[in-house]
Amino acid sequence: MALTQKFLLFCCFSFFFSTLSAAQTSFRPKAIVLPVTKDSSTLQYLTQINQRTPPVPVKLTLDLGGQFLWVDCEDDYISSSYKPVRCRSAQCNLARSKSCITECYSPPRPGCNNDTCALMPDNTITRTATSGEVGQDVVSVQSTDGSNPGRVVSVPNLIFTCSGPLFLEGLANGVKGMAALGRTRVSLPSQFSAAFSFDRKFAICLTSANAKGVVFFGDGPYVMLPGIDVSKNLIYTPLILNPVSTASAYFEGEPSADYFIGVKGIQINGNNVPLNTSLLAIDKEGVGGTKISTVNPYTVLETSIYNAVINAFAKELSGIPKVASIAPFGLCFDSTNIGSTRVGPAVPQIDLMLPNGNFWRIFGANSMVQVKNNVLCLGFVDGGASPRTSIVIGGYQLEDNLLQFDLATSRLGFSSSLLFRQTNCANFNFTSNA
Ligand SMILES: *[C@@H]1O[C@H](CO)[C@@H](O)[C@H](O)[C@H]1NC(C)=O
Ligand SMILES: *[C@@H]1O[C@H](CO)[C@@H](O)[C@H](O)[C@H]1NC(C)=O
Ligand SMILES: *[C@@H]1O[C@H](CO)[C@@H](O)[C@H](O)[C@H]1NC(C)=O
Repeated sequence: MALTQKFLLFCCFSFFFSTLSAAQTSFRPKAIVLPVTKDSSTLQYLTQINQRTPPVPVKLTLDLGGQFLWVDCEDDYISSSYKPVRCRSAQCNLARSKSCITECYSPPRPGCNNDTCALMPDNTITRTATSGEVGQDVVSVQSTDGSNPGRVVSVPNLIFTCSGPLFLEGLANGVKGMAALGRTRVSLPSQFSAAFSFDRKFAICLTSANAKGVVFFGDGPYVMLPGIDVSKNLIYTPLILNPVSTASAYFEGEPSADYFIGVKGIQINGNNVPLNTSLLAIDKEGVGGTKISTVNPYTVLETSIYNAVINAFAKELSGIPKVASIAPFGLCFDSTNIGSTRVGPAVPQIDLMLPNGNFWRIFGANSMVQVKNNVLCLGFVDGGASPRTSIVIGGYQLEDNLLQFDLATSRLGFSSSLLFRQTNCANFNFTSNA
């Protein structure tokens, strides 16, 4: 009896191992690189992967806190390598699925098969969820040595979830789904690390419109022209797990896939902004705290925090004439009276205070938005009186900052503005040396 069990265990383990190692051809990449652009009408950050057989470029909205890759499988999903994930299979468990689709009442196709594992794709732009079949298909991406894109590498059975075309509402033109980087076992960072046996680390470096930013999977170096390794000299802070899911729909007991950090307070020009600090903690229901998001174009603050920040900032800049505010912002200035520096408009710095005396310093390039000629607005928005998360650090505040997420040690490394280091997030050399 014991022998049989041992044999079974061994057989399954080696089967699983060979499935994983199939991803490794003779060439094993050290890291992967994906380009990121910003869509100027939706302000979403977009990336692209090649998926299917024959391969098709699939444009996706980048979702830092997303749980898993999801794509529309109804419109033109043609692939000879698509496999539905069976109910109760190892992949289904890895994805922490809690439900199955027993029967699909249409002709079989990707997204419609009997007895399959199901997950709930989350459109985090419109904050809606649906249910979809979990599938696997080949994905190919470019490897990197940290300086240039290199050889194309493939993950033969990347796990993702199917949605329908209606679920794409709110996403940028041409986008077919969302690329999830969240803290789950089936997010893109987890699957790439498992497929190529590299560190469970990834980094984002976002840019404004008309430029190409980058996501790196795996450890540094991350080299930006003119030859600056931006993975060096990072400030580290613990990533906090919110025990309650922040997804649009979820099963009880699921933790959040979002990345939270322990902001303890806010200073403007070195002065404390008076805040209700209980909003900065995550309570038993998972409410409160500070997370980082690529689907919010600007930082969103709970109303009392927002008002306190706006008032403190206006006080520090009292010498500059205010102008009528322009939505979604609530504090705007006549920019002809504001000087400029290497790190953007010369305005008071905003510090997010972190544990161990660390802080995340936000300079003018990341705090002020040029809304029109001669008008600069503070790029923070009011999130209402009882939002799920008190502070959501949004995309504009992340641009030209490198953020490295280490899933194994649960910590965030951040660079603050790269403009200080004579480089920026558009400076990865995308010329391939493969
Ligand atoms: C699922 O099974 C039912 C009942 O056997 C069958 O009618 C249906 O065509 C099957 N659907 C697919 C997608 O295979
Ligand atoms: C501070 O925030 C907590 C959590 O929302 C709330 O219960 C409490 O009433 C607030 N305190 C004050 C003084 O506003
Ligand atoms: C970018 O990389 C290519 C290929 O390695 C190299 O030939 C080129 O000189 C690099 N560009 C710059 C500006 O360094």
